[in-house]
Amino acid sequence: MTVLASLPPSGTLAVGERVRTLRAAGRTIFNLSGGAPDPAPPVGLTPPAITPGENALGDPWGEPFLRRAFAERLARRHGVVRGECEMVATIGAKQGVYFAALALLEPGDEVLVLDPCWVTYAPSVALAGGKAVLVGLARPDNRLDVAALEAALTPRTRAILVNTPHNPTGRVFTEAELSALADLVKRRDLWLICDESFDLFVFDDGLHLSPGAFDAIRDRTILLYSFSKAFALPSYRIGMLVGPEPVCRLVATCTQQLISSVSLVSQKVACEAMAQEAEWAPFLRRTYQDKRDACLEILRRDSRFDAPTPQGSFYLFPGITRFGLSSDALTARLLDKAGVAVTSGAVFGAAGEGHIRVNLVGPLPVILDGAQALLRGLPG
Ligand SMILES: Cc1ncc(COP(=O)(O)O)c(C=O)c1O
Repeated sequence: MTVLASLPPSGTLAVGERVRTLRAAGRTIFNLSGGAPDPAPPVGLTPPAITPGENALGDPWGEPFLRRAFAERLARRHGVVRGECEMVATIGAKQGVYFAALALLEPGDEVLVLDPCWVTYAPSVALAGGKAVLVGLARPDNRLDVAALEAALTPRTRAILVNTPHNPTGRVFTEAELSALADLVKRRDLWLICDESFDLFVFDDGLHLSPGAFDAIRDRTILLYSFSKAFALPSYRIGMLVGPEPVCRLVATCTQQLISSVSLVSQKVACEAMAQEAEWAPFLRRTYQDKRDACLEILRRDSRFDAPTPQGSFYLFPGITRFGLSSDALTARLLDKAGVAVTSGAVFGAAGEGHIRVNLVGPLPVILDGAQALLRGLPG
């Protein structure tokens, strides 16, 4: 079988396809599975113009104006100091994950990924010729289990791939957890890939910490960012990969060969969005914290849910074992009986079984109607 023939479809995007089919057939569906955040992007919806002189293939690293602005943002927001040759523009964090794997892995190399985790990591590692090895978060509060990560290392382990704020659990890893991880990465001569796509979605008094701030592992850390979530610009398909210059050079060469360059419209819009971050970030945080709290309040009306408060991301990931159904079965029942689309926790790995993921995207009243309908679809 070819590598592509063995690539599974995205378990999260498959729900959206089902929603589209049901709606086209005339059913009313509350979609609590969408991945495109609202409110509207900070820069509005008018794409920036491309002048005739600009209508050309651009810099495979990303335009210098974007990398300069992103370097300033990284230093300002996360205390991560990097030069313009330590970052490459990507077509979203998705491409960043794949190209990072291509840059680091030799055939058969292993990458430790968290269980549960976002559905794209393991297939990207496999596409790059590697093997993802799942390591569970520590229950009950989904802490990074650095001892378990260390126990899973083999001579083939090349990298550890984490994501904070974490999809799907909503955990925001602490400084203590991340510095223990950094220590492991340094001691065992590994790479750390950290997907920070939800860096602006941190609630209450929480703080997002980037492992890019740890100098001791600076030369072995790759950071991935996305404008899809933090700046609500998913259709522009733009993100950034940040890492040591030799890795960025490999990624830029691969970009040159496979993509040429990232859309200039997207690079311009990303810059405009970053210029509005000072007002946008607190607004986003407030909006999503309100959605989280209002939706949790409704779910908790049924005491069978085990619904802890997520610290970040835009997901709820309640435990559902007390309903006596698998994640897939409850998800199917909610769609069938109540017209509510959620994502089965099982798509995020074995540790996701026993959960459903509820996405807080869309206007608050619509989410709340969906949450009420969800309660009506639960088994009696
Ligand atoms: C953890 C995580 N990283 C990255 C992405 C996608 O980022 P992008 O749209 O920039 O490819 C998602 C989308 O759901 C995600 O959950």
